[in-house]
Amino acid sequence: MGRQSFGTVSPMVKVVCPGSFDPVTNGHLNIFDRAASLFDEVVVAVLVNESKRGLFAVDERIEMLREATSLHDNITIDTFDGLLVDYCSSHGISAMVKGVRAVSDFDYELQMAQMNDHLTGVDTVFLPTSPEFSFVSSSLVKEVARHGGDVGGLVPAFVLERLTARLAAQ
Ligand code: PNS
Repeated sequence: MGRQSFGTVSPMVKVVCPGSFDPVTNGHLNIFDRAASLFDEVVVAVLVNESKRGLFAVDERIEMLREATSLHDNITIDTFDGLLVDYCSSHGISAMVKGVRAVSDFDYELQMAQMNDHLTGVDTVFLPTSPEFSFVSSSLVKEVARHGGDVGGLVPAFVLERLTARLAAQ
């Protein structure tokens, strides 16, 4: 016999995927896709860090994130500065979603998750990175591309175009 429903209304669950996304990679997109199928609303929040200049300006990163997530109607893009826990409190966010590539990621991510829990009680959900992206990071993609290595398949095609153009202009 199937489980009976008593008409309980479950609350909308809104989560955040925070990061620098300079630029977005296919590894990030895999995490966003999975978060979007697990939760009602996903906010991809780009950290605005005035003291650290990226290869792409925050507005450019947002443009690329918007284009890359345009097929999902429950993903939105935003920016934040200051503490992520404060962003979560002021935007009705129940949990942070983080991709974990390796044990080395987990050490620091666990520490941040516990600090964030200590600060406001906000929870962190870890999603294991899909194996095909476990070696992909924005910084390695930039380094390899800067030296002429092939990063096709690691970022969306339109990001690769922008990356190649930006590096050539430097
Ligand atoms: O893509 P990144 O740069 O690895 O993302 C790191 C990020 C933005 C998730 C992390 O640095 C962060 O949460 N920064 C916001 C500041 C903050 O809340 N610091 C306290 C962490 S316990």
